[in-house]
Amino acid sequence: MELDEAVFCRRSVRVYTEQKVPEDVIESIINAGMCAPTACNKQQVRFIYLDGNEHLLKLYRAGAATFIKECKQAILVLYDNRIDNIEYSDHIQSASAVIQNMLLKAYSEGVGTCWVCNLPAKTKVRSLYHIPKYYDPIALITLGYPKNAAKQIPRKYRVSDVLHYNIFDMRQEEKVCAFVNESKILLKRHLRRVYQRLPKIKLFTRIADKFEKKFDN
Ligand SMILES: Cc1cc2nc3c(=O)[nH]c(=O)nc-3n(C[C@H](O)[C@H](O)[C@H](O)COP(=O)(O)O)c2cc1C
Repeated sequence: MELDEAVFCRRSVRVYTEQKVPEDVIESIINAGMCAPTACNKQQVRFIYLDGNEHLLKLYRAGAATFIKECKQAILVLYDNRIDNIEYSDHIQSASAVIQNMLLKAYSEGVGTCWVCNLPAKTKVRSLYHIPKYYDPIALITLGYPKNAAKQIPRKYRVSDVLHYNIFDMRQEEKVCAFVNESKILLKRHLRRVYQRLPKIKLFTRIADKFEKKFDN
C-alpha cells in the first residue's frame, strides 16, 4: 500500500467484526510502532496486548470510553516517565509517534483501530494491569476488522487556514480560532479529574455516558 493511501484514508474504527486479528499481524503492528522516532532514541515504550473482551471490560468498568465494552482486542501503550524534558513532555511525544506508526501499519493490514484517551485515572489503569509507577499509560489502541466501511470526512481546515509563515500571524489565526471559553474548559478539566477518580457506580457512569462524545465510525 502506498504511504499516501494510509495517511489520507485511515479513519478511526470503533465497531469490529467477530474475526480476530491474528497475533503475527498484532506483532507486525507493534514492530511498526517500535520504528518510530523517540526522544534521545530511548525507545522506552512498552505494550500490553489485551486479548479478549474480559480484559477490556475491566477498563470500561473503571470508567473508560463506552464503545470499548464491545471490543475484543486492544493494545495499551505505555512510556517510561523518567524524563528530564518535562517542558516538552518527551514521553508523550515519543509514545504518540509510536501510536501513529501503529495506526498506519494497522490500516495497511486491513485492520481498523481507534486511539483512545478517554480512560480512567492513570493510578487505576496501573493497578488493573500491574504497571509500575515509572510507566505512564499513554493511550489504548482498540483493534479489529472494521464492521462497516469508514466514511471519509473532510478535515475541518485547509493548509492555508492553519499555516503561518515565520511568525504566528494573529490575522491568520482569526480564520480558524473559534471562540474558546476558557472557564468552560477549566470546569470540564476539573469535572473529568474528579470523574476519573470516583468509584464507578452506575449513576455516575450513566451521567458520564450522556456527556461522552459520540462518533459515527
Ligand atoms: C489523543 C487522542 C485521543 C483520542 N481519544 C479518543 C477516545 O477516547 N474515544 C474515541 O472514541 N476516540 C478517540 N480518539 C479518536 C478521535 O476521536 C479521532 O481521531 C477523530 O475524531 C478524527 O477521526 P479520524 O481518526 O477518523 O480521522 C482520540 C484521538 C487522539 C489523537
